[in-house]
Amino acid sequence: MQHLVDTYDLTDQQIQDLLRDAKNFKCQKPTQLLKDKLLITLFFEHSTRTRSSFEVAAKRLGAAVVHLDPSRSSTKKGETLEDTFANLCAMEPDGIIIRHADNETPKQLADMALGTVINAGAGNYAHPTQALLDLFTMMEHFEGNVEGKTVAIVGDIISSRVASSGIRLFKRMGINVVLVAPQPFMPQSDLPQHEKLEEVMDKVDVIMSLRAQLERHTTPIFDDYEAYAQHYCITKERMQKRDILLLHPGPVMRNIDISDEMLKDPRCKVLEQVKNGVYIRMAVLKLLLLDAR
Ligand code: CP
Repeated sequence: MQHLVDTYDLTDQQIQDLLRDAKNFKCQKPTQLLKDKLLITLFFEHSTRTRSSFEVAAKRLGAAVVHLDPSRSSTKKGETLEDTFANLCAMEPDGIIIRHADNETPKQLADMALGTVINAGAGNYAHPTQALLDLFTMMEHFEGNVEGKTVAIVGDIISSRVASSGIRLFKRMGINVVLVAPQPFMPQSDLPQHEKLEEVMDKVDVIMSLRAQLERHTTPIFDDYEAYAQHYCITKERMQKRDILLLHPGPVMRNIDISDEMLKDPRCKVLEQVKNGVYIRMAVLKLLLLDAR
């Protein structure tokens, strides 16, 4: 039984296979590869993209999906998460897709070895399918040659599972990563760190902007989002005519993370990331439910 807790669960060959399968899914009409399979989605945190993307991916491949809304589940009557998971596994789904605020939850459930666990985002630690779809989007843009490219991750890096998973995967693929954030948003890291965006604009091939999660910080860092945006919003003035690929995992805070103008700019691939997310998740489901069985 193979799980996807983070990309360390994948061999180098499996990552290559996922990228190949996602590319093929993007070019072909969907097939019914998973027509006898059943997935359960269990999201303890809000989601627009990841949950619907997994559900679309599963349905495009012919799988059935059941969603359990935790706010209406028996976890509200005191049932433990482990018992909820064990009960769902007793119904013999082919995989359970889970999002949780706790970093360790997907790993703990995977270790119970009752059913395949697919991490759809855990705490600030891991969001493997986001990292894979970001890699896929870069691969597509740079025609397969990402080694030696430099990505600046900009914003609230310390709160971001997208950043954590991305950093691990990008480094593994030979991509350079630099971090741009105010000190309180900066994680402990041996990667190059910058407080000012202007310091990196001439050195990077990709900017990955992150949502400013000011609500997660107990000590106020900026008076308001506007003050943050003055330093970190990706605007046309900052980008100028540079050939930089602009990514963001969503949800985008308009004119705080990225300006309205830049969101319309062809260098910005935010919606392409969302599109690619379906193909990557189709590839992940094929791998875990079919190829690795
Ligand atoms: N990128 C991402 O995880 O978005 P959602 O929170 O909407 O799923």
